Amino acid sequence: MRIGVLTGGGDCPGLNAVIRALVRRGIPEYGYEFLGFRDGWRGPLEGDTVPLDIQAVRGILPRGGTILGSSRTNPLAESAASGGRSGLERVKGNLASLGVAALVAIGGEDTLGVAARLNAEGVPVVGVPKTIDNDLGATDYTFGFDTAVNIAMEAIDRLHTTAESHHRALIIEVMGRHAGWIALHSGMAGGANVILIPEKPFSMEKVCAYVEHRFKDRYAPLVVVAEGARPEEEDDLALSDQRLDSFGHVRLGGIGQVLANEIEKRTGKEARATVLGHIQRGGTPTAFDRVLATRFGVHAIDAVHDGAFGMMMALHGTQIVHVPLAEATSQLKLVPPERYAEAEVFFG
Ligand code: F6P
Repeated sequence: MRIGVLTGGGDCPGLNAVIRALVRRGIPEYGYEFLGFRDGWRGPLEGDTVPLDIQAVRGILPRGGTILGSSRTNPLAESAASGGRSGLERVKGNLASLGVAALVAIGGEDTLGVAARLNAEGVPVVGVPKTIDNDLGATDYTFGFDTAVNIAMEAIDRLHTTAESHHRALIIEVMGRHAGWIALHSGMAGGANVILIPEKPFSMEKVCAYVEHRFKDRYAPLVVVAEGARPEEEDDLALSDQRLDSFGHVRLGGIGQVLANEIEKRTGKEARATVLGHIQRGGTPTAFDRVLATRFGVHAIDAVHDGAFGMMMALHGTQIVHVPLAEATSQLKLVPPERYAEAEVFFG
């Protein structure tokens, strides 16, 4: 039986560990043959494949990124041009002509949304959740998140020294899209002066009061802000690009500099912003992410063998369970007020 594999959306540490686990379990245990699709949904859309055997996955466990490549290609946004076939029909046609009996889609909300739709149209699909944002409602954790948090925490630790030496307020902008998980965890772990998340619009006045309070203690403040956070008095999010991607998302970014300007203006203290950007998605996965990704891979190929199609692997506590793909992609997991309140204890 031939199994297709693809990785879609933003890359994240641990993708290769899933691919390795699928192949290392699927070939010897079930006698499967694997076909990798290049660059997310672009692969099945255009029939662009790469062979995946045990040799191809040797040594990839600690490697960041994805050996299959990724993209934000959305087959659902590809309309049938003048009598041609729609994106979905092209994907289905290519899978059938390549003899792919089942597909494992590794991705976040967008990639798995397409997987759910494809499964609803009769294509056997199993999903594996990934995203540094940790914002998928159906799983306690996605792999990639722990690595991103550790990278951000290390950056905060490093920034502390410059903040203190130069008596500056330093602002660090982290990713996470509309969820504040990376900011919350890295800010708590790094001892931030204040953490700003999308779930709770912030008061600029209060942020400046925290900053001034920290300076009074002869200690320089470090502000962690999520890219999707915004001040109470501002309805629009800071954007680095107004254009929408094929899933309808804008590109967030810039709130760190907005804050730095405002803090400097209101407090008279020098304030500088650092945008962590894709550094958070790069490099080798942490042990937690390697183990989670590997377990997801093993369970996903077992799910294929058991015919559990339309399911996504999820972590509930310490157990890997199956949840319906449609349910998994229906709700974003946001930071609840009580989790933010725990972090607030240390503000100011
Ligand atoms: O979803 C992961 C993520 O890194 C978000 O945190 C961020 O907003 C987005 O992807 C950036 O995407 P891109 O690399 O395509 O600009």
